[in-house]
This record gives sequence, structure tokens and C-alpha cells, in this order.
Amino acid sequence: MSLRQFITARKLLRSLFDVKKNVQKSAILKWREMASLFGLHDNVFSNPRHIKISKPVTAILIGAGHRGSIYADYAIQNPNELKIIAVAEPNGGRRRRAKLNHQLSINNCFEDWKAVFIKEKFADAVIIATPDMLHTQPCLAALDAGYDILLEKPIAPTEEECRLILEKVTATGRIVAVCHVLRYAPYFRQLKEVLDAELIGKIISIQHMEPIEQVHMSHSYVRGKWKNSKLATPIVLAKSCHDTDIIRWLVNSQAHDVHCFGNLRWFTNANAPEGSTERCTDGCLVEKSCPYSALQIYLRDKKRLYVFDLPVDKSKWDKLILENLKTTDYGRCVYRMDNDQPDHLTVNMLFENGITAAFSMEAHVSYQGRITRIMGSKGDIVGDMESFVMTDFKTRKKVSWKMVTDEHGGGDHRLVRDWVQAVAQQDNTLLSSTIEVSVESHLMAFAAERSRLNRTIEEVKIGSKIVAVQLETVVER
Ligand SMILES: NC(=O)c1ccc[n+]([C@@H]2O[C@H](COP(=O)([O-])OP(=O)(O)OC[C@H]3O[C@@H](n4cnc5c(N)ncnc54)[C@H](O)[C@@H]3O)[C@@H](O)[C@H]2O)c1
Repeated sequence: MSLRQFITARKLLRSLFDVKKNVQKSAILKWREMASLFGLHDNVFSNPRHIKISKPVTAILIGAGHRGSIYADYAIQNPNELKIIAVAEPNGGRRRRAKLNHQLSINNCFEDWKAVFIKEKFADAVIIATPDMLHTQPCLAALDAGYDILLEKPIAPTEEECRLILEKVTATGRIVAVCHVLRYAPYFRQLKEVLDAELIGKIISIQHMEPIEQVHMSHSYVRGKWKNSKLATPIVLAKSCHDTDIIRWLVNSQAHDVHCFGNLRWFTNANAPEGSTERCTDGCLVEKSCPYSALQIYLRDKKRLYVFDLPVDKSKWDKLILENLKTTDYGRCVYRMDNDQPDHLTVNMLFENGITAAFSMEAHVSYQGRITRIMGSKGDIVGDMESFVMTDFKTRKKVSWKMVTDEHGGGDHRLVRDWVQAVAQQDNTLLSSTIEVSVESHLMAFAAERSRLNRTIEEVKIGSKIVAVQLETVVER
């Protein structure tokens, strides 16, 4: 700690605690003050190993949907660091939008990912943001062709495919970052900093909750792209692999055993109210009182419209939204879907260092984000994605701090920045996670799903060998 930090910390401590009465004032610190108080890094994101990039990293965007566009936006905001030079996207509107946004030549706009790899390598890297079931093949093809990769999670839909990718990354030595964006959220960065400094002593156990928020659940996992675990991936992988990754990161140990309970309790045919219809637009008698009314969510409230690819001209929206509600799954009754994803589940984990973690994913809540309780040998921490309270067991003194964060925890572009640095410097130690640990977080999720389906306690077998993976051979140059 520098002299300046020491003096500021003393002043802060004095102002926080009235020593005579031993009463704590209810001050909520900013992270800078918190860092100064305990001698921690005041900027959890600054990395002295980052350099000024002399030539932007060039990348091909594979899948220009919701996530792909967010990552590609980094290039628009930071043209000296990243340049998107090609796109592969079957949806014409999205392809044209990417062409326009990144000023791409028509020859570099492809309708399918395979077309990218038929050509000789023509960029430094690829961004793979295709649907869950379409990660493995482009990823393997990109590794074969010598590209570095920003790979959306889940790495792959099966354990075997994850291991196959890990094997190929190891063999080729390419830089591969998996989009575990929560590692780049101030909330988890600051929590990690505090835990690593052992301000609450040794971690004993963790309780961690992922509240999905009921409309978000209905949008993505009842009506939306991940409604069916067999057509996409099980929710514990699709949604909660972020959490298995974060918990594993915080405890800094491999998971040994995992156990999971969970089921689909509410969004089923049996719960369809009397008077409800196949679609909210079919004259449903309970539409006005239903919290999942598609007419309310999409048409009246204009929420979550990114799935409809609406034009810029807002005067056309109502007609187009209504058309979508009459023709796509987003207008169907949430109780009459072909969904199978659990709407609540709990995962118990035992790590090799003896720490236990209890995780629960909850759909039936009015809020979202993450809620965390960490139990330590000298104190505990309670956090809710916006603030933390840390209590010391001996003194009973509490320190609270607050953070500024955005909708996705503030992580998306910070993740891209680290990946760009890693590619530019050809140094994968600049990434927050290794591919081995990312795969491990997925193995925890696969083990949880096995446990849920088989009612077993499952071992997380990190070192297992690949058995056999059937993949279509697709790219021939
Ligand atoms: N890291 C996170 O926090 C996070 C959040 C949401 C989604 N995801 C993951 O990101 C991925 C993409 O999700 P999304 O919400 O952006 O979906 P999306 O449907 O908006 O985007 C996927 C895009 O891939 C395109 N595509 C389909 N087939 C293709 C092909 N053959 N070649 C090239 N492109 C093709 C689709 O047309 C679509 O535009 C998924 O795997 C999802 O699970 C990650």
C-alpha cells in the first residue's frame, strides 16, 4: 500500500467508525474507497500488460444475431483495435445490417459459415455467435484453418464435443476465449478481489442464486430459442454455465461432485387457464390478466423486440409485431408450448478443496441478476449484483460498497477487449479463463443435468477421454 493509500484509508476508517461508541455509520462506499481501505486494486479492469495495438485485429463474424452484433459493435467503437472484415449469416436482413455497419465488401458476405472456411485464411480471428447446436463444427473448422476464436457459450452441446474442442485447441495452440461475460462484470471482479485478499478469511461455502425473472424465462426458455433442451441445450448449460464458471472461479478449485434437482412446474398444459387459447391473439379470455400476455409484452410494452428484426421506421412496428405474434412462437400461449426446460432447479457442488456451493436458478421471480452469499472463516459477504455488505465476525463491523453496472453486468465489451489484446499479443494468459477451465464449467453443468435426470450424485470427470463423436464432414477446400 502506498503512503497516499494508507492516509486515505485511515481517514476513511475514522469516518466510517465512531471508535468511542463503536457504532458503525451506514456509509456505502464506492469501489475506489473500498480498495483504498483494504489495499486492493482500485481499478479491477486495468491490466498493465495491455498494449496500444498497432494494427487492428481482423475478424470474421459468424452469426450476426443478437450476441454476434454486440461483440461486433466493439469494432465500431474501437476501430483501432478490432475490424470486422467479413460476415457469415443466413438471415438476409442481419447480413445486410452487418455489411452496412462494418462497410464490408459484397465478396466478404456469406450466407453460411462453411463458405468462410472454403477460402484460405483471410483474417486473424473469427467470432462464433451461432445458435447452440452450431458451435462445434465452425469452431473445429476455424482451428484447423489457423484462426483465433471468440466462442459464444455453450462451447458445444455435448460433453464429448467440448472435449474434442479442448483437444484441438491444445493441439493447435490457438487463442480461444469462451464468452463467460460475467467474469467481466464489476460485481464479480470486485468480489473476486475481496475473496482473493482473504478479507473474510478462507471461503467455507457459497450460496448463489440466478433469478431469471419470469418474463425473461417465458421469452427465452418457454417461447424462445432455448425452449426445448433437445433442440437447443439444457437450461443448466445454456443459462447456468455462467454460474458454474463463476462459482468455480471464486472457489479456485475443481468441482468433484454435483447433485441437481429441478423440474418444469408451471409452464405446462395442465396449468393453462380456462378460456386461454393457442395464441394470445386468438381472443384469449384471460389475456388481459395474464402476466405472460404476448400482446402486453411485445405489442403494448414493446419489450424484447430484438428477436423480430424490426425496421428503423417505428411507424411500421405495430403491424409487424402483430404479424409475428400470429406466426411465430412468441405469440403462443406459454402453457401450450413444446417446452421442456425446468423453471426451477438447485445444484449442490462439492469442490476438491472442501468448499461447498448451493446454486439455485429460479424463473418465478420479479427480478433478475445474481444474488450471492459467501461464508468465510472470519466473516461473510452478501451481494446482489449492485452492492455488497461484508461483516467481520470479531468486530461485527460492516462495510458496504456499491458498483455501477449495466444490463448484462457490464461484461460484454470488456471481454472483447481482453480477447483482442490476447490475439494481438498472441498471449492467451491475457484472457480471464483458460479453455480447460471453461470446459470444466461445462462439465459441471453436464454432470448436473445427468444428476437431475437420473437422480444421482455425479462425479465431474475432468480428465476423461473422448469416446466417439459423430460429426458431419463439411469443409473441403
Ligand atoms: N454469453 C452470453 O451471455 C450469452 C447470452 C445469450 C446468448 N448466448 C449464446 O450466443 C449464441 C447466439 O445467441 P443469440 O441470442 O445471438 O442468437 P441469434 O439467433 O440472435 O443469433 C444467432 C445467429 O446465427 C445465425 N446462423 C444460423 N445458422 C447459421 C449458419 N449456418 N452460418 C452462420 N450463421 C448462422 C442465425 O441466423 C442468427 O442470426 C447462442 O449459442 C447462445 O446460447 C450467450
